[in-house]
Amino acid sequence: LYGLGVGPGDPDLITLKALRLLRACPVLAWPAPEEGDAFARSIVAPHLVDLPPRIEIPIRMPIAADRFPAQAAYDRAVELLAPHLGAGRDVAVICQGDPFFYGSFMYLFARLAGVCSVVIVPGVSSLTATAAAAGHPLVAREDVLTVLPGTLDPEALAARLVATDAAVVVKLGRHAGRVQRVLAKAGLLDRATLVVRASLPDQRVVPFAAVDPADVPYFAAVLVHRRGRAVS
Ligand SMILES: C[S@@+](CC[C@H](N)C(=O)[O-])C[C@H]1O[C@@H](n2cnc3c(N)ncnc32)[C@H](O)[C@@H]1O
Repeated sequence: LYGLGVGPGDPDLITLKALRLLRACPVLAWPAPEEGDAFARSIVAPHLVDLPPRIEIPIRMPIAADRFPAQAAYDRAVELLAPHLGAGRDVAVICQGDPFFYGSFMYLFARLAGVCSVVIVPGVSSLTATAAAAGHPLVAREDVLTVLPGTLDPEALAARLVATDAAVVVKLGRHAGRVQRVLAKAGLLDRATLVVRASLPDQRVVPFAAVDPADVPYFAAVLVHRRGRAVS
């Protein structure tokens, strides 16, 4: 079983190792929403066009920030993959960004490590992709970086923000308004940058203060540094 990080969105931001394994594995699986297409599958599409069809397994599950982990869905996923693994076929599970950075692959890993051989190929995560898109160095010297899910309650968010030098807030979507209010209260909103769909053609980088929170999608992150810039 391979957990392949396929990067933040730009198909070019995949590692050579992930690309080689992606093209070689006879079975391809990916976490997918209950209906419709999955981001990870669309990222790798250009890398598969010249290959014959293979066994493809969308692992359907509720993809909502606050509904993970969907344990029953992962149990079903194991049942879907087990016959292929049992038959000795290599299975590649493609993961948007990095598999071990808030990636749902970790729930498959927890179930299958020790049962079969599992190899993780790290990917470019949203942490570094959003920083690159915004031209926002994350941390310098002895700075402490804190990664915060936007789903946290306001008290927890505020406590973490005041205790760190730099933060990246992920999982925004419908939580964006609350994150905006907490940053304002902490005196950090004017230092916060919103990055939407980093590395994709429709990427947006805007001051978070200028954004209507109702317009913030799920694939967006906020970068903030208490000095304004890590290099100042
Ligand atoms: C479930 S986490 C998955 C993270 C992914 N495994 C990674 O390594 O970046 C999804 C969150 O990552 C962030 N994210 C992922 N890709 C992004 C992108 N291209 N641009 C901005 N934020 C992104 C968003 O905050 C989103 O809500």
